Amino acid sequence: GCSLTVIELDGKFYPAFPVDNLKNYRTLPLTDDDVILCAYPKSGTHWLWEVAMMLRQGKAETIPFKKSLQMVEFNSIANMAEYPPPRVFNTHVLYEDLPSEAHARRSRLVLVYRNPKDVAVSLYNHHRKLSQYYEYEGTFADWLEMFLDGRVDYGSWFDYVKSWEKVFYSDAPNPVHLIKYEDMKENPVSEIKRLAEFLGVTPDPELIKKIADKCEFSKMAEDKKPHQEHTEIMFRKGVVGDWKNTFTVAQSEAFDAILKERMKDCKLKLQVRYTL
Ligand code: A3P
Repeated sequence: GCSLTVIELDGKFYPAFPVDNLKNYRTLPLTDDDVILCAYPKSGTHWLWEVAMMLRQGKAETIPFKKSLQMVEFNSIANMAEYPPPRVFNTHVLYEDLPSEAHARRSRLVLVYRNPKDVAVSLYNHHRKLSQYYEYEGTFADWLEMFLDGRVDYGSWFDYVKSWEKVFYSDAPNPVHLIKYEDMKENPVSEIKRLAEFLGVTPDPELIKKIADKCEFSKMAEDKKPHQEHTEIMFRKGVVGDWKNTFTVAQSEAFDAILKERMKDCKLKLQVRYTL
């Protein structure tokens, strides 16, 4: 059928996380030292979170637990206190939905983004393969309609990107560092170096190279297996341009037209090459 199972709260859609946590994440306590990695689902969150944690810990060692443990909307006030600094939380919620302390403390934010067509194919596979949670068995064509309408967990990609305009055009902006998935694939060493500068750490060039190698797709997929659930879905292909294997030409053209229309007033121009 043309729907999938999500939790709806105040008009927003979430995956099946503990409902009390979904209701309360905006009140979670943070410290001035916390960093929050923000991304629409399937844009490279696991990858960049691993890199950011390694940079903050100053060593190229696999983080021995799953990423969702440090996911804002997955947590309760009680578990937050258990995570020792230096901390990197991650989240898929809109900018305005971040915990109010992230705004009040002007927390450092890292925003990861990716070609929305690759995001769409990755999220479609996520929904289809995690059928025990999402109960989606329809076609890509039906699913694409839901994605374009924002009837998926975390809502529409367009609204997600638009929510980030506010941080760049606000009077008291959070410091934000943008990372594009495609740039990280093309030149991980220079992207990791840029991220290190933002995080205020000064790793030697050898460590940066080690982190890039340790977080290379197949290495990271293998190393995370003992610590992360559903690794075959979270680490599916890890390539740029895989959308071409799933979209038809007509779907791609329709997507381009909708994208152009939906983003025409968006002041935040992400450097996404839509037709790769
Ligand atoms: P694909 O489904 O296109 O392979 P997120 O972590 O935000 O859920 O994003 C998941 C996507 O990032 C998946 O995309 C996954 O394979 C890819 N990914 C995960 N780790 C990666 C890595 N180390 N390098 C490149 N891509 C990675």
